[in-house]
Amino acid sequence: MSQANLAIGVFDSGVGGLTVVRQLRRELPDEDILYLGDTARVPYGSKSPQTVLRYSRNNARFLLGRGVKLLVIACNTASAFGLPRLGEELPVQVLGAVEPGAREAVRATRTGRVGVIGTLGTIRSSSYRRAIAEVAPEVEVATQACPLFVPLAEEGWVDGDVARLTAERYLGELFGTLADIDTLVLGCTHYPLLRPLLAEVATRVAGREVTLVDSAGAMARATRVALEAAGLRRGGGAGRLTCYVTDAARIGEVGPRFLGEALTSVEEVDIDAGGQASAGG
Ligand code: DGL
Repeated sequence: MSQANLAIGVFDSGVGGLTVVRQLRRELPDEDILYLGDTARVPYGSKSPQTVLRYSRNNARFLLGRGVKLLVIACNTASAFGLPRLGEELPVQVLGAVEPGAREAVRATRTGRVGVIGTLGTIRSSSYRRAIAEVAPEVEVATQACPLFVPLAEEGWVDGDVARLTAERYLGELFGTLADIDTLVLGCTHYPLLRPLLAEVATRVAGREVTLVDSAGAMARATRVALEAAGLRRGGGAGRLTCYVTDAARIGEVGPRFLGEALTSVEEVDIDAGGQASAGG
């Protein structure tokens, strides 16, 4: 098979990366996608950099073993801790969440003040700060870890009282640390589900219009540009999505919320055992 006809590999700590797959399918409808969600070991956001890097290597190895032409690290935490290291180690181009999101934020801000929200790991890594400073050192950045947004999104609690109070608390702290933030980066796979609520709360707390930058959309656009630059676009015919998960317990219920459509092909695999299908999976 020619390299262009291989699939795009995408991995995430769990179901959240399906928000990235959703954007990829919109941006690149004729590409095949192999998705691996490490649902047995989620969340990555509260784990150490070494553990996240180890899990990320396992995930990458599994997808490379199935033949992919490019690897997308959908998980912001895995991108924050895994890049640039994985890019140097692996034989295919590796794209992550942080750099595309940072670039779009720099393009979007008029005040030169950007807010970033993400998991504890992503925020502690300072990866968005560094990525923004690399392209626009003059842009000021405030960050806020929002760990409770992940379980809220998975439960589908995206617009009620609990989600609203949580958003007010987190965004109140973020906008309280730096005035005139006009751009907010959603630096986590789960946050697109909370987008309408975050847009409303951010605008109210900031007292001004706030542009939201979704790292999932930014990543999909960066993937298209990378494939085109490498001459690896696959032409013709609707692309197929194949999903692997390391624990299938809630995938049928939670997955479609993130993907925006039913999941038709899901297989449970044991990546520690070299990616064998699990018994009954
Ligand atoms: N996928 C993770 C991220 O984007 C969120 C869930 C987790 O903590 O693993 O950072």
